[in-house]
Amino acid sequence: MEFFVKSGNPEKQRVGCVVVGIFDRRTLSSAATLVDDNSDNLISSVMRRGDLDGRLGQTMILQRPGGLFADRVLLVGCGKEREFDDVAFKKANAAAARALSNTGTIEAVNYLTELRVKGRDTAWKVKQALLSSREIFYRFDECKGNKEEKGKKALQRLTFAVSSRVELPVAEKSLIEAVAIAEGMDLAKNLGNLPGNICTPTYLADKAISLAKTYSTLQTRILEEADMEKLGMGSLLSVSRGSRQPAKFIIMEHMAGPKDAKPIVLVGKGLTFDAGGISLKPAAAMDEMKYDMCGGASVFGAMQTILELNLPINVVGIVPSSENLPDGDANKPGDIVKSMAGITIEILNTDAEGRLILCDALTYVEKNYDSDVVIDMATLTGACVIALGSHATGLFSNHDRLAKALLNAGNISGDRAWQLPLWDEYDQQLKSPFADVANIGGREAGAITAASFLHRFTKKLRWAHLDIAGTAWNSGKNKGSTGRPVPLLTEYLISRANSQD
Ligand code: BES
Ligand code: MN
Ligand code: ZN
Repeated sequence: MEFFVKSGNPEKQRVGCVVVGIFDRRTLSSAATLVDDNSDNLISSVMRRGDLDGRLGQTMILQRPGGLFADRVLLVGCGKEREFDDVAFKKANAAAARALSNTGTIEAVNYLTELRVKGRDTAWKVKQALLSSREIFYRFDECKGNKEEKGKKALQRLTFAVSSRVELPVAEKSLIEAVAIAEGMDLAKNLGNLPGNICTPTYLADKAISLAKTYSTLQTRILEEADMEKLGMGSLLSVSRGSRQPAKFIIMEHMAGPKDAKPIVLVGKGLTFDAGGISLKPAAAMDEMKYDMCGGASVFGAMQTILELNLPINVVGIVPSSENLPDGDANKPGDIVKSMAGITIEILNTDAEGRLILCDALTYVEKNYDSDVVIDMATLTGACVIALGSHATGLFSNHDRLAKALLNAGNISGDRAWQLPLWDEYDQQLKSPFADVANIGGREAGAITAASFLHRFTKKLRWAHLDIAGTAWNSGKNKGSTGRPVPLLTEYLISRANSQD
């Protein structure tokens, strides 16, 4: 599908459908008023008859409106005008996209981007309208033998309207960014949704190699288990020992920024299936542990976006990838392993494996890069899901400015994070009588003790950790990857690119 921006009045559009907003209590938006004025009050009479009142998310299609050039008008309820905020804006756009995909229209012009949203400019509205629409159009059918038939005539061109020509350049720039973000999210979602028997560490490594073939700025390197052995990644390798799939350590470098600029390093947990190991997980919903590589997937997604935009920044993406399965050679509770940092770890629960692969990845980063900041993403703890639910990602950082920048990127993109503390009291819970550190810290504050564990390996870095266990995928009826935290990451990276020139 193609996306455009334009300025111009709705009654003049020669397209399959124009999309206009209606507020609660039957208030017409200015685009709706123009349609109404030119169509012999078509909209106000429909509303007067009580068929539509403007509740948020309500939609109605009016066919062959007289006096217009368009074949249809799609009315979209936007709720109370005073309450039309970020969330309402996205909901209205999602409702519009859903309604459009149920029509035969090939081309539509959406005027919701002209509505006023408090504190948000045209660039933001275009970006969010695009992302909300792409969210609705996303399908994962790679594994269906019998592909669902695409509707007779699917929407091919969607244009977002801006209220004046002056705004077109910003809107266009924002649209290009938004499409690249949507592509990055789709990649992250696809990788997440793929089953564990297809999306293995080797599959992810091959994906990184193929990305480097597509984008000339990308340098990909894959470390094999033998390489990791030489580097002393005893913690990471201990997880992979219980699996027949070889672990891969994936390195992607996009060094398109100034030569002397220190790179931003993204590290993503790439556990392609987490059965828990000898500390086996219960059977219920265990299939969802194919999503335990969503941190890694978000690194791929963010890389894809910055590669597509060819952002002039230095970014390194690192994805340590493995499975966690029970096996005769798997980690056992009580085992002690030595990490690349030289810190010994007592593995009291083999299901706390994410931190075991991440600690070696973080040490690798510390030893091999003079990094500006390091951000890791991981579906790390069930405890984070209990603390924050599926709405916010857990954020931990040893650097206030980085934490603020990431929280801000989350607020702008709507992919929000919430900061939790890294106090020493929590770190105390990780004491082990036999090794330097234990890999679990007891029942209390599980998300924080997991982050504290990682913090032991990042003392020399400006570092942030995003626990995305609650936000990376949806369970239940709408099971599927969300693509989070690609919006947050790309917002941060784009703003970094903008602030340097
Ligand atoms: N990948 C899981 C975390 C997870 C669980 C994410 C459920 C989303 C939903 C992680 O490897 C894990 O198993 N963590 C354990 C840690 C515990 C043993 C200290 C957990 O959260 O139960
Ligand atoms: Mn686990
Ligand atoms: Zn895990």
